[in-house]
Formats: sequence, structure tokens, C-alpha cells
Amino acid sequence: MSLAAYQGMRVLVTGGLGFIGSNLALRLEELGASVTVVDSLVAGCGGNRANLAGSGVRVIEADLSEPAAIEEALARAQVVFNLAGEISHIHSMEYPERDLHLNTLSQLRFLDACRRVNRGVRIVYAGTRQTFGRPRYLPVDEQHPIRPIDFNGVHKYAATMYHLMMSELGELDAMVLLLTNVYGPRMSLNIAGQGFLGVFFRKALLGEPLAVYGDGEQLRDPVYVDDVAEAFLLAGVAHGCVEREYNIGGAEPLMLREIAEEIGGEARRVPFPAHLQPIDIGSYYTDSRRAERVLGWRPRTSFGEGVRRTMDFYRLWFAAYLDPQEELRRELPEHAGIRRRLEFTISR
Ligand SMILES: NC(=O)c1ccc[n+]([C@@H]2O[C@H](COP(=O)([O-])OP(=O)(O)OC[C@H]3O[C@@H](n4cnc5c(N)ncnc54)[C@H](O)[C@@H]3O)[C@@H](O)[C@H]2O)c1
Repeated sequence: MSLAAYQGMRVLVTGGLGFIGSNLALRLEELGASVTVVDSLVAGCGGNRANLAGSGVRVIEADLSEPAAIEEALARAQVVFNLAGEISHIHSMEYPERDLHLNTLSQLRFLDACRRVNRGVRIVYAGTRQTFGRPRYLPVDEQHPIRPIDFNGVHKYAATMYHLMMSELGELDAMVLLLTNVYGPRMSLNIAGQGFLGVFFRKALLGEPLAVYGDGEQLRDPVYVDDVAEAFLLAGVAHGCVEREYNIGGAEPLMLREIAEEIGGEARRVPFPAHLQPIDIGSYYTDSRRAERVLGWRPRTSFGEGVRRTMDFYRLWFAAYLDPQEELRRELPEHAGIRRRLEFTISR
């Protein structure tokens, strides 16, 4: 599969002002594609206009749940990269209806527009390893049982199934990438509840000590954002594949304390917060061999190299990404009229 196919290609990236979407959009621009991004800068998600500032990418600020505003761009797209969504497991437990709206209803309306104005279009969706829940075995492959332990995992799974079901019906031609923890330049550092990697980078950049929960020996396989962008690009032009779901994980399992030490030096161990224990998945790492076999993809960036590039980026663009005066934002503003906060055990 040659990425030269993107030269002159019209592509649409949803969630393209966010972390992964913006890196993908910039890479597509480098490859000579004509790139349009749609993003509504949902409060509490990681979108940031600075991510695409100075680029030639066309940005439409619109929400997927109101697709009329993007139908023209959608109709012209030769490939759609669908990354819009809410990533926070914690937000999903506090505001499940908000997560339902962002990750399923919005997707349903968007996919309906895709099939109406661009039937059969190739669409690559950003799914998540969170749909698997607590691993029954390691590494986790695509056959692993689906047992999500938070609403985000349930809603992202529903959206995954929309893509697959509509492809069965011939309405779309979807590929789904099931991503592990992604890190790199342009990830948001000011929002609480978006995962430990953003917190680690934020603290390291502010010169604050890092802390890991429990013994810090839980395994994760962080994957660098450029490698993830490459997986999207390869999936966008892969044809004749029998399988539509691909796990995308990092090169090596690492303990959380090793991850913390690489980013910010020695990390304190603190007791695992009781309110987060129910949605902790324990150790996780990915079996990405299907992506290697079919798409020719594998993670190329070592964790040490990825951390160095990430820190260099934020040191250069500190002011656009990090407000040292700002406490990590916790409370979420209303979205689409949805205010209902539910008191699950994980709520403080
Ligand atoms: N970052 C990770 O580690 C990770 C892991 C697994 C899966 N994913 C998936 O990858 C995708 C991108 O994640 P990210 O880390 O870049 O998140 P992000 O929060 O940085 O970006 C998501 C973007 O989507 C936009 N958005 C959300 N709902 C929208 C809607 N209805 N209409 C228009 N725009 C909308 C937000 O404004 C934001 O800019 C998500 O779908 C996420 O579930 C990410």
C-alpha cells in the first residue's frame, strides 16, 4: 500500500482539531491531499485551534450531530477519517448521557449522512481498546471478548458496530482501528480525566513530581501519534481486506512507573484512589499482528524517542498548550442541552 495515493486526494477528518485528528490532517497535507476537517470544539474534549494554525487545512467548525453543514465536503470526500469523539472514561461515568450523545448519537447521524451523500465511501474509525474491558489474557487480540467496564467503552463499541453493520449492508466501507493509549505532540494537557499520559507530560513540563497509583507495575503499551497516523493512512487505502477491525498498540509493554520515569524522572507511589478502582482495567497490552500482516503497519517509534519528541514540541509551544496557572479542569459544561450528572461510585 503506497501513501503516494493521497497526492491530490480529497479527504475529510472528523475531530481534526483534536490531538490525533490534527496530527493526521497535517500528515495528509504533507502527502499532498486536499484536507477538510470538521470539529465543533466540544468543551471538555481536546480540540485546540492552535493544532492546525498556519496549515493549509480547511476547517469547518460544525458538530457531527448536525451534519447538514458538512454534507458538501462529505459528498466530495474520497476517504473519511472519523476521529470525533469523547475519550474520557471518567467523564463518561459522570455524564453518561453526554458520552452517549458524543460517541453514539452524533456518530449515527453522521454515518447516516455518509451513506446518503457518499454511499460506500471508505471510512476509517477511531475505536478503542476500552471496549475489551479487563483483559482475560495478554496480549489482547481482536478476538478478545467485549466486556467494557465504563460507558465510554459501551458507547464506542456501539459506534464501532454501526460502522461494521453499515459495511455489511454495503452502505459504507469501514475500517476500525482499536487504539491503545496514544501520546505525542498536540495532546491536550489542561483537561482532567483524559488519561495518565497527559497528566504525566503536564507535570513533567511544570517541574512537578509524578505519582503512580499502587505499585506502578500495571502494564501499558503507549503508541506514538505519528505511528497511529500512519495506521489510519494505511487503512484508508487498503483494499480487498477480509477483516475490518485492527488493534493498534505500542512496540513494547512498559510498567506505569517506567513510563512515568521516562517522562519525568522518579515517580512517587500513592495508594490507588478507591473511587477509580472500579474502572481500572489492570494490565493491558496489544497484539497488533493483524495490522502488521494485513496493513503492513507496525509501531516504529520507541517510547524514549517519542517522549523526547513530545517534550521538545511542548517546550517550543508551551503557551498554546499549557497554562501553569490553570488547575486541571474537572467540571464539564453543558453539551447539547445535556446536564444530567449521575452519581456513580466513581464520582467524588
Ligand atoms: N487518545 C487516545 O489515547 C485514544 C485511545 C483510544 C481511542 N481514541 C479515539 O481517537 C479519537 C480521537 O481522540 P483524541 O485523543 O484525538 O481526542 P481529542 O479530544 O483530542 O479530539 C477529539 C475531537 O473531536 C471533537 N468532537 C467530539 N465530538 C464531536 C462532534 N459530535 N462533532 C464534531 N466534533 C466533535 C472534539 O471537539 C475534539 O477536538 C476519539 O474518537 C477517541 O475515542 C483515542
